[in-house]
Amino acid sequence: MDRSDIERAVASHYGRSGLADNILKTLGLHDAAPGSVPIEALFPVDQLHHGGVGLTEKMAATAGVRAGMKVLDAGSGIGGSARFLAGRFDCDVDALDLSEDYVRTAEDLDRIVGLSKKIRNRAGSVLDLPFEAGSFDVVWSQNVTMNVADKQRMFAEAFRVLRSGGVYVLTHIGRKSDGAIDYPLPWAITEATSFVTSPSDFVRALSDAGFMDVQDHAKDAPPPPPPSPAAEGEPDDSLAMGDQMLLRRANLRRAASAGLLVPMLVTAVKP
Ligand SMILES: C[S@@+](CC[C@H](N)C(=O)[O-])C[C@H]1O[C@@H](n2cnc3c(N)ncnc32)[C@H](O)[C@@H]1O
Repeated sequence: MDRSDIERAVASHYGRSGLADNILKTLGLHDAAPGSVPIEALFPVDQLHHGGVGLTEKMAATAGVRAGMKVLDAGSGIGGSARFLAGRFDCDVDALDLSEDYVRTAEDLDRIVGLSKKIRNRAGSVLDLPFEAGSFDVVWSQNVTMNVADKQRMFAEAFRVLRSGGVYVLTHIGRKSDGAIDYPLPWAITEATSFVTSPSDFVRALSDAGFMDVQDHAKDAPPPPPPSPAAEGEPDDSLAMGDQMLLRRANLRRAASAGLLVPMLVTAVKP
């Protein structure tokens, strides 16, 4: 598949219409006034990655996120991390995602928590960032890179839009060893849209893009495990992520236990 085929397939894997209404109804918040809902109320459904909000907290601490920073959330899903960064740290956030449905959902959810002025959402690709060079203190990509084949170009774009001294922080599921992996996985139904790079290739590609001090923090302190599975009928990220999430998560857990896949939490600094 070429780049546009991959991006079309990835966007349709994630996109679903009417998602914000569905989420707010499921959470019993459909009558909530704009600005009246705390960001925490959305955490069970808006953190579209292993490790839930615990991983988001760990990622922010590892990257050294501080109040007032300018952050690009590159592959922002329905905006869970962007709201976390704007709500907890008062960051100024640009959020970009391939899925137009997710972008619209993020806008609606930002409004309900009163963060529309701190977060700008737009549709686009991490391979062509629509921002000026040197615009951001932090570029943040949480569980996005497994859907991107051209890591070299993605890393070059992040490098370009960071200021000197800025931090690129990523979570990735790395391909630790050879062996058959069962699909579907949370980020892909088949291997046609799954690009799980080995940890050493991932780190080397960041260095080749010009980053210094490239570190995989998950090697020494693995990310927190996912919160216990939602009880039957309880809202969780399958609202946004779609069908078969129990099977998709189980396949990921099995591949990780077998040593085939490994979660990574990487920081890299622009000199
Ligand atoms: C597993 S979700 C994670 C979303 C969000 N980062 C989070 O952790 O809640 C992966 C997201 O990456 C986005 N994505 C994948 N490839 C992309 C690309 N080339 N450009 C922009 N977004 C992309 C998808 O649309 C999807 O929203």
